[in-house]
Order: sequence, then C-alpha cells, then structure tokens
Amino acid sequence: MHLATLISLLVGILPSLTKAVLDGVTYDEMRYLAHHASDAYSMENCTNPEGTVKLQVWTTGAKGYLTLDGQRKWIIMSFRGTYDAEDFQTDGNQTLVPYTVKGSEGCKNCTVHAGIQKAWAKNVDSVLTAIKNAKTAHPTYKIIVTGHSLGAFCGTTIAHEFTNVTAYGFAAFRAGNRAFANYQESLFLGTTFHRVTSLDDNVPQATTIEQGYYHGGTEYWIQKEPDPKPEDIKVCNGSEDQTCNAGHWTKPTDSQGVNAAHITYFIQVGTYNCTADPAKVPT
Ligand SMILES: *[C@@H]1O[C@H](CO)[C@@H](O)[C@H](O)[C@H]1NC(C)=O
Ligand SMILES: *[C@@H]1O[C@H](CO)[C@@H](O)[C@H](O)[C@H]1NC(C)=O
Ligand SMILES: *[C@@H]1O[C@H](CO)[C@@H](O)[C@H](O)[C@H]1NC(C)=O
Ligand SMILES: *[C@@H]1O[C@H](CO)[C@@H](O)[C@H](O)[C@H]1NC(C)=O
Ligand SMILES: *[C@@H]1O[C@H](CO)[C@@H](O)[C@H](O)[C@H]1NC(C)=O
Ligand SMILES: *[C@@H]1O[C@H](CO)[C@@H](O)[C@H](O)[C@H]1NC(C)=O
Repeated sequence: MHLATLISLLVGILPSLTKAVLDGVTYDEMRYLAHHASDAYSMENCTNPEGTVKLQVWTTGAKGYLTLDGQRKWIIMSFRGTYDAEDFQTDGNQTLVPYTVKGSEGCKNCTVHAGIQKAWAKNVDSVLTAIKNAKTAHPTYKIIVTGHSLGAFCGTTIAHEFTNVTAYGFAAFRAGNRAFANYQESLFLGTTFHRVTSLDDNVPQATTIEQGYYHGGTEYWIQKEPDPKPEDIKVCNGSEDQTCNAGHWTKPTDSQGVNAAHITYFIQVGTYNCTADPAKVPT
C-alpha cells in the first residue's frame, strides 16, 4: 500500500475513533434549517422565508409553514415551537397515549405524547395534501422537515407517507416511547433524522426516560453558541449519549423550563427577520 493511501485511510479513520466531526454538507443544511425553524415563529409575517416561496401556513394545531426552495430544490415543512396558549396546553399534556394518528400503522406498541398527537391530528391531512401537491409539481425536490421543539414527531408521519424524507429537529423533547423511537429510525433512511441539541438546553430532557419516553435519531450536540462552526458540533453516539446534551442539562428553575440554551440555535430563535439571506425565489 502506498504511504499516501495509508495516510488518507488513517485520516479518514482517526476522527471516528477520537471525535466524530460534522461534515460540511450536514453543517450547511443544519445552519440553514435553523433559520427556517426560527422563521416559523413569525408565521404569516414571514413572506419569503430565507428567500423561498411560501405555499401554505397553518395557524392552529401543529403550526408552521410549507415553502419551496427553488435553489436547493427542497420542499420544506417547518414547524413552529411553543409560542401561544394553545401550544403551552399542547406541551403540558405529557401523558403517553397509544399512537393512533395517520401514519401510525405499522408502529407496534407505540405510545406518544398526548398533547403533540392532538395538535398534529388537526393538521395532518392538510399538511400531507399540501406536500403531495408540491411533490407532484416538483417531483425531483427533496422533502425536508424541520422545526424547533415539535417537528420531529410530526415528521414521522411525513416520512411514513413519502420516501427519503430528511429531518432536522432542533431542541425537541422526547415525543414517544422506545418502540416509537425505533419506528422513527426505521422510516428515516440512513442518518437522515438529525436531532440537534445545544449546550445545557433542558427541553430535550423535559420528558424523561423514567416517564417511559425515549429519543430517536442521531443527536448533534452544539457546544458553542451563537454561530457555531462545524468543529463546535459533536456527532453523538445514537440518541441517548450521556456525553452529549443528556449529560449536561440543568434542572429547570422556572415553570416552563426554558433556559438561554433553548432559544439559541445558531441564532436567537424567533428573532430572525426572514429576509437576511439573499433571495433565491425560482424564476
Ligand atoms: C405579525 O405582525 C403583526 C403586525 O405587526 C403582529 O401584530 C403579529 O403579532 C405578528 N404575528 C406574529 C406571529 O409574530
Ligand atoms: C408488544 O407488546 C406485547 C405485550 O407486551 C409483546 O408481546 C410484543 O412482543 C410487543 N411487540 C413488539 C413489536 O414489540
Ligand atoms: C391528555 O390527553 C389525553 C388524550 O388525549 C386526555 O384523555 C387527557 O384528558 C388529557 N389530559 C389533560 C390534563 O389535558
Ligand atoms: C435519498 O436521497 C439522497 C439524496 O438526497 C440520495 O443520495 C439517495 O440515493 C436517496 N435514497 C433513496 C433510497 O432514495
Ligand atoms: C455507542 O453506544 C453503543 C450502545 O449504547 C455502545 O455499545 C457503543 O460502545 C458506543 N460506541 C462508542 C464509540 O462509544
Ligand atoms: C435582517 O437581518 C439582517 C441580518 O441579520 C440585518 O442585516 C438586517 O438589518 C435585518 N433587517 C431588519 C429589517 O431587521
């Protein structure tokens, strides 16, 4: 074997033995989608989120928007995190109930967060129809699901209905039991289910393993905010890695459990003005 080949092999292997490094493509996608997840907080006021074409907005139940990114060729469903009184009620019902909403067929012994399932049940049909229409009009576009807090749960139905869906969930709490977590992982191909956490954000730990909850996906733990670089983001071992967010959170001191880390994912979540990136509306 040539020395150069050996060195390039070692360079490829060493990081995975020491510290998993975030690749550039994933970093770029994550950063961009953190902006979309933030834009979702301004709902109807965000005319062209990140320069994309907004197709539909949902203002009750699992709230958010569907948008078309002509430059990246993506259909992006972005779910808004907790904001209004209805959302706080949604979050508050942490009872694990049988998973019955559309797309739950095939999920054996699954239980999920009662509040989110109820919110999602209100919009699931219309969201799926909107995505279907967008996909029919743009068959080569990739379907992306993102959101701050709620997105990953709702994304499970979307991944059930369409093939090759990619998810970037930021600051999500555990949404269901272990069977549900396993089911999610069976729907998202390869490592397309990215669960992003930050520093000591305690919301990803707000629903607990003791209650019967379990996280799905591959965790990416941001160790510096704001504006982290790829080397500030640790690729964790699976979904419950104690060297990542699960080992660093602090017990909430206020009633909602929201700390500074929860509202800073690349940018201060919710304060982004939707237009900071150059327009890329397709011509
Ligand atoms: C949208 O803008 C209007 C007018 O400024 C404001 O009253 C409303 O609260 C905004 N909505 C959101 C979700 O920020
Ligand atoms: C579901 O639960 C039942 C009863 O506890 C058990 O017998 C069965 O193996 C479980 N199925 C799966 C797929 O986990
Ligand atoms: C939580 O949701 C379940 C199922 O939807 C419902 O039966 C229960 O009454 C709810 N609990 C509260 C406190 O709202
Ligand atoms: C899923 O999409 C990626 C690119 O977005 C592609 O490389 C891959 O082949 C696709 N896999 C399947 C099974 O469609
Ligand atoms: C990753 O986690 C699995 C299961 O918890 C464990 O068996 C494995 O040793 C871990 N790998 C590393 C590199 O820590
Ligand atoms: C929007 O955000 C960009 C980048 O942060 C900033 O330069 C610009 O002043 C902001 N515009 C408004 C109207 O706040």
